Amino acid sequence: MINAYLPNLAIIKKIIRETHNTNTYMLEFFDKQLQTSFSCTPGQFMMYSVFGAGESAISLSDINNNDITATIRNVGSVTNTILNMKEGDSIGIRGPYGTGWPLDKAKGKNVLIIAGGMGIAPLRGAITHIKNQRNNFGHLEIIYGARTPGDMIFKYEFEKWRQIKNSRLDLTADTIPANTPFECKAGLVTSCFPSMKTQHKNAIVLLCGPEIMMRYAAKCLETIGFKDDQIYLSLERRMKCGIGKCGHCQIGLKYVCKDGPVFNYTDIKPFIHPL
Ligand SMILES: Cc1cc2nc3c(=O)[nH]c(=O)nc-3n(C[C@H](O)[C@H](O)[C@H](O)COP(=O)(O)OP(=O)(O)OC[C@H]3O[C@@H](n4cnc5c(N)ncnc54)[C@H](O)[C@@H]3O)c2cc1C
Ligand code: FES
Repeated sequence: MINAYLPNLAIIKKIIRETHNTNTYMLEFFDKQLQTSFSCTPGQFMMYSVFGAGESAISLSDINNNDITATIRNVGSVTNTILNMKEGDSIGIRGPYGTGWPLDKAKGKNVLIIAGGMGIAPLRGAITHIKNQRNNFGHLEIIYGARTPGDMIFKYEFEKWRQIKNSRLDLTADTIPANTPFECKAGLVTSCFPSMKTQHKNAIVLLCGPEIMMRYAAKCLETIGFKDDQIYLSLERRMKCGIGKCGHCQIGLKYVCKDGPVFNYTDIKPFIHPL
């Protein structure tokens, strides 16, 4: 019998330093057959295990080149151990798990992407997908906010995202030091809404960030005509098994690992952070 909890060994091929506490990793399974057959949907996650430290759920942070890409912020024991690893080191991974962004439903629609902090990690794959299949989608608008410009990840992508045909990128930070090398407004992500181009008609919203930010953004979208069922968001809950067996990530009757992490807002509204 196959043990569903057994990780497969992967090698860290490349590390990109994003911020003082966050790196992006490009990985490849040792097992060439596993690597060749690997496929994922933007928004899905993998379980990363480090011997002696534990296991963590981490989103796939891009979908290019058949690589397994993860962007990891150091917050505790597992993530700290990973942040100290080097290119050539090996790590255990299993997955991909969970639901991805509803990119089929988004076809033919204007797509509004709203991300706060690390929330841009699971959304980068969706941006890449839309870029790769540009004619299948309407206008693409990306609103990304962080505490400071220095906390932003994927800074090297901003210009490329601005170059995507029929798209707009708006960046915002709570505080902006002098000499910030790119265009960035001061304020919360919702402060970008008055200049937003996307209107509710024929649009879909992909939202990811701290729960309070998602709740507030959804409330503001409602006041400008967006309906709850146009909004999809990705939730984070503490995970153990990642495959719907242990109940650690349960919200209401759903498991975030199996039924999510991407949910339609109507399905999870009663269970997330109240305003
Ligand atoms: C579906 C999903 C996707 C994720 N994607 C990413 C990602 O792309 N990049 C990334 O850096 N992190 C991501 N996370 C969060 C990541 O799983 C946790 O930060 C990690 O497990 C922390 O483990 P640790 O041992 O380093 O920290 P711990 O020592 O276990 O915890 C450190 C602190 O973080 C809190 N914490 C731990 N796990 C979670 C969680 N799941 N939700 C909220 N708080 C938590 C703890 O309560 C504690 O305060 C994701 C989580 C989920 C559920
Ligand atoms: S993490 Fe075990 S059921 Fe979701």
